[in-house]
Amino acid sequence: MKNIKLKNKKVFVAGHDGLVGKSLCKRLEKENCKILTCSKRKVDLRDFNKTNNWLKLNKPDYIFICAARVGGILENSLYPADFIYDNLSIATNLIHLSYKHKIKKILYLGSSCIYPKFSKQPIKEDSLLTGSLEPTNEWYAIAKIAGLKLCKAYSVQHKCNFISAMPTNLYGPGDNFDINSGHVLPGLVHKIFDALKYKKKTITIWGTGKPKREFLFVDDLADALVFLMKKYNKPDHINIGSNQEVTIKDLAKIISKVTNFKGNFIFDKSKPDGTPRKLINSKKINSMGWRSKTTLSKGIELTCEWYLKNKSK
Ligand SMILES: NC(=O)c1ccc[n+]([C@@H]2O[C@H](COP(=O)([O-])OP(=O)(O)OC[C@H]3O[C@@H](n4cnc5c(N)ncnc54)[C@H](OP(=O)(O)O)[C@@H]3O)[C@@H](O)[C@H]2O)c1
Repeated sequence: MKNIKLKNKKVFVAGHDGLVGKSLCKRLEKENCKILTCSKRKVDLRDFNKTNNWLKLNKPDYIFICAARVGGILENSLYPADFIYDNLSIATNLIHLSYKHKIKKILYLGSSCIYPKFSKQPIKEDSLLTGSLEPTNEWYAIAKIAGLKLCKAYSVQHKCNFISAMPTNLYGPGDNFDINSGHVLPGLVHKIFDALKYKKKTITIWGTGKPKREFLFVDDLADALVFLMKKYNKPDHINIGSNQEVTIKDLAKIISKVTNFKGNFIFDKSKPDGTPRKLINSKKINSMGWRSKTTLSKGIELTCEWYLKNKSK
């Protein structure tokens, strides 16, 4: 299959209002394509008929599937049925209807958190389904794995160009900064800004601070998604990482430096650490010529600027 051009084409960003969707729409502006979006209020993508009618009417050439029900451990454990049902419905509706409406190419998003809990590091694409899942997000993971497999099944049986990507942990402007439902990086940003505001000298962090995590700035992901839409044509999913690993303790130090927080961190060792290391192997996409550009400090700086403007009132 040939590389594609997005210029003058109709590109539907499903989930345009989320962390990834917003950044992707911004990135797509450079491609001179016609960006199509649709709010959940107007078309809930779990609704087959509404999704079908919208696609029939708008006829996109390409679709990025960034719509999903996303959340942290607490949300996953409180709403398992919603996580599995919403993500399965969005995937089955959009992927099957993309086939029905002869969409030229779609890109579906998985997530590195759906690889087996004890995958060999750095995690290669072929580690998927080689071991047990992290129990705290198995509902989400099962639905997302089904989404990846749907893309592959339609590619194999119907020769559709349906591709999928596995991004590592993301962060950036517009993230979920809620301490309970958000991820570790935005949660720390929130805690540190609160400490600055209320002149607190110490911040408590769950676990030992030793686990290592990889983070990718969302604008780098958006760039990778456009790159893959243009150039990647295989039915097997492909990892998108930054190759930048950091311990939770060092992450807290970087955010402190950026925000000028001079206080201390207490590591609550009675709380779980989770997996000691989580890094994905991005050799495939790197060898195709794509690499992330934003350093962790720069990305955190941009994220904190956004937080200050939008969240700290
Ligand atoms: N965030 C990460 O660290 C991360 C890491 C790896 C992979 N990913 C993947 O990237 C994708 C996007 O994640 P994100 O962080 O951008 O999530 P997000 O910020 O929660 O955005 C998800 C978007 O999907 C929309 N949506 C949810 N349910 C919908 C429905 N039934 N119908 C129509 N729209 C619906 C949401 O609309 P409402 O806001 O109106 O509900 C929102 O705009 C997901 O597939 C996720 O698995 C994310």
